Amino acid sequence: MRVDVVTIFPAFFDVLEVSLLGRARGAGLLDVRVHDLRDHTTDRHRTVDDTPYGGGAGMVMKPEPWGLALDGIVADAPSRPTFIFPSPAGELFTQATARELSSAPHLVFGCGRYEGIDERVFTYASTLGDVRLMSLGDYVLNGGEVASMAMIEAIGRLIPGVVGNPESLVEESHEDGLLEYPSYTKPATWRDYEVPDVLLSGHHGRVAEWRHAQRVERTRERRPDLLPPDPTA
Ligand SMILES: C[S@@+](CC[C@H](N)C(=O)[O-])C[C@H]1O[C@@H](n2cnc3c(N)ncnc32)[C@H](O)[C@@H]1O
Repeated sequence: MRVDVVTIFPAFFDVLEVSLLGRARGAGLLDVRVHDLRDHTTDRHRTVDDTPYGGGAGMVMKPEPWGLALDGIVADAPSRPTFIFPSPAGELFTQATARELSSAPHLVFGCGRYEGIDERVFTYASTLGDVRLMSLGDYVLNGGEVASMAMIEAIGRLIPGVVGNPESLVEESHEDGLLEYPSYTKPATWRDYEVPDVLLSGHHGRVAEWRHAQRVERTRERRPDLLPPDPTA
């Protein structure tokens, strides 16, 4: 998969050199290219923002550098890209979104700062590819970098070959609408805390039953919004 990122803080993405995604890049599974938006400015101060039309607090990212940055990426693109602009006003990014996007050949992340990007940039991008405005959740970050990183990691680990054991992806939280069961490893007793007996029983059927019950209970307790509505309620 090819991933381009446009940002005014390219250093945020240095962490993509490490861990599983770093290895995936080394193995040629993920081709990540980070672009500095300021390279597409034309003034001495490398300005990327200006005051909002209509007044109001804060600054807005100017369309011209964005247009040039997107043109440069598209000129060199293997196929029609999907543009992802992180935004607290976007659709919610979920595990299902990550799965859907993990088969896309080319994703372009556009990281907003200040009060966001001039709205016309999204309209222009939609002439070049598919455009998705994506929110990580109902809170506001300072910029799109952390949100893009989170999405790149969630999507990237679903690309075949990135995670060594694909089985480990199947049972995870959010894959089938339930949270994951609790996990334990050795030793069986640690500081007087015991591992649940059933996990030491060697009885696969009972372990599976216990884990499923734990998943349902946890989901009901922590994230009831994920469960279908109770018809008796
Ligand atoms: C300070 S925020 C701008 C918020 C914008 N004025 C609003 O109220 O919708 C700056 C940038 O951070 C990113 N951002 C902030 N919160 C986010 C979230 N929950 N999910 C995804 N991106 C977010 C977006 O790229 C946004 O353009």
